[in-house]
Amino acid sequence: MKILVIGGNSGTIGKCVANRFRKKHEVITAGRTSGDIQVDINDSESVRRMYESVSGLDAVVCCSGATKWAPFSTMSEDDIYVGIKSKLMGQVNLVRIGKDFVNQGASFTLTSGILADDPVYMSSNAAMVNGALHSFVKAVAPELQNGLRLNVVAPGLVENSAERLGDAFPGHIPVPMDKVAAGYVRSVEGMFTGEVIRIF
Ligand SMILES: NC(=O)c1ccc[n+]([C@@H]2O[C@H](COP(=O)([O-])OP(=O)(O)OC[C@H]3O[C@@H](n4cnc5c(N)ncnc54)[C@H](OP(=O)(O)O)[C@@H]3O)[C@@H](O)[C@H]2O)c1
Repeated sequence: MKILVIGGNSGTIGKCVANRFRKKHEVITAGRTSGDIQVDINDSESVRRMYESVSGLDAVVCCSGATKWAPFSTMSEDDIYVGIKSKLMGQVNLVRIGKDFVNQGASFTLTSGILADDPVYMSSNAAMVNGALHSFVKAVAPELQNGLRLNVVAPGLVENSAERLGDAFPGHIPVPMDKVAAGYVRSVEGMFTGEVIRIF
């Protein structure tokens, strides 16, 4: 398969997912500043240009998307739009625009996270956007044509982020990177669609 991994060159999750897929597939990486292709998922025109520049994709995997971390009491409307614009609309646009470019039977795999189910202090923006992504995938997967599939992986705090983020996730047990990557493999190489793949 020809697989595009957004965040696959420099991202904590994306790098490990790209390396896992490289064992069996052709992998193209994309990122805002790094990777084989440059794309800003926050900008739908940039997403369209990316798809125009790469043909024959069998899978699109997104391991990217920013959110705002702050106590809810301090958040402005603009702060709340950070996650809506990037992690939610960025990934929605990857599907909305990408469906007209990818191969028949291709798959889209998005990334949400455990915070949809188990939020922590200062995670309101990430939690609400993750929940929206779960609803988006369930609602849109059955509508996709041409055998296209759509799933979302919801990882827990991943092992390679535990040192940096562990204090913000009290009591969470970091998920091994090979287990995280396996969630993406299940989506891309499996046959199901409309699933939230929880990897906690
Ligand atoms: N880390 C965790 O424990 C964890 C757990 C659950 C869910 N998640 C979610 O998983 C996703 C990835 O997390 P991560 O920790 O792997 O992030 P990360 O290490 O910060 O990596 C983010 C990747 O996305 C790319 N990127 C950033 N902004 C972009 C943009 N606007 N357009 C295109 N690419 C962009 C970066 O590429 P450049 O360097 O080229 O900009 C980088 O490769 C996030 O949505 C996060 O919420 C993370």
